[in-house]
Amino acid sequence: MRIDIITLFPGMFSGILNESILNIAEEKELAEYHIHDLRDYTVYKHRQVDDRPFGGGPGMLIMPDPVFRAVEAIEKDGGPFCRIALTPKGKTFTQSCAKELSGEENLLILCGRYEGFDNRIIEGLEFRQISIGSYVLSGGEAAAMVILESVVRLIPGVLGNEQSVISESFSDGRETVVEYPQYTRPAEYRGMHVPDVLLSGDHEKIAEWRKNHSRTKDTEER
Ligand code: 6GU
Repeated sequence: MRIDIITLFPGMFSGILNESILNIAEEKELAEYHIHDLRDYTVYKHRQVDDRPFGGGPGMLIMPDPVFRAVEAIEKDGGPFCRIALTPKGKTFTQSCAKELSGEENLLILCGRYEGFDNRIIEGLEFRQISIGSYVLSGGEAAAMVILESVVRLIPGVLGNEQSVISESFSDGRETVVEYPQYTRPAEYRGMHVPDVLLSGDHEKIAEWRKNHSRTKDTEER
């Protein structure tokens, strides 16, 4: 999968792309990342990319021209691209969105800043608007990282076998993996003991204990 990200803060991505699963996916040649500075595509003075909204209101909006130029330049040598604009106004991102996006050949992710985008960017370039939850971030960069982390691990071949089994146990976008408390060594730590049953080797009893102590993330939140 080729992933292109348009941002005003390209430096924010250098850490995350060079570590962990995102890096492994790139080394396995299952993913490649291209980070683009929106300011490289503006023809305005002082590398301007934003301006005040017509009709008044708070903040600044990303102007259409730099984004149109960036998208045209990026997509010139590839495609078609699934275009995603990150904005708190978007549809909430879920596991099923992640699964869907993991099947794309080319993703183009546009990170917003300020109060949002000139609407001609969204309509004219047919961006799908995505939000990662009901809170406001100063920009889409952290949201883009969340999307990368959730999508890239679902690309077939990125994870080892053990973990890919877990990722298959999602259904309808809901996490159906049940969570029971887990422990590793040591069996006793600062006076706190691992439940005896987990040390017993009795797999039937362990399964029963886990069932009795399971909570789905969903029910825990309520
Ligand atoms: Cl995608 N962007 C911004 N700026 N804020 C958000 C968001 C995105 N998702 C939740 N809050």
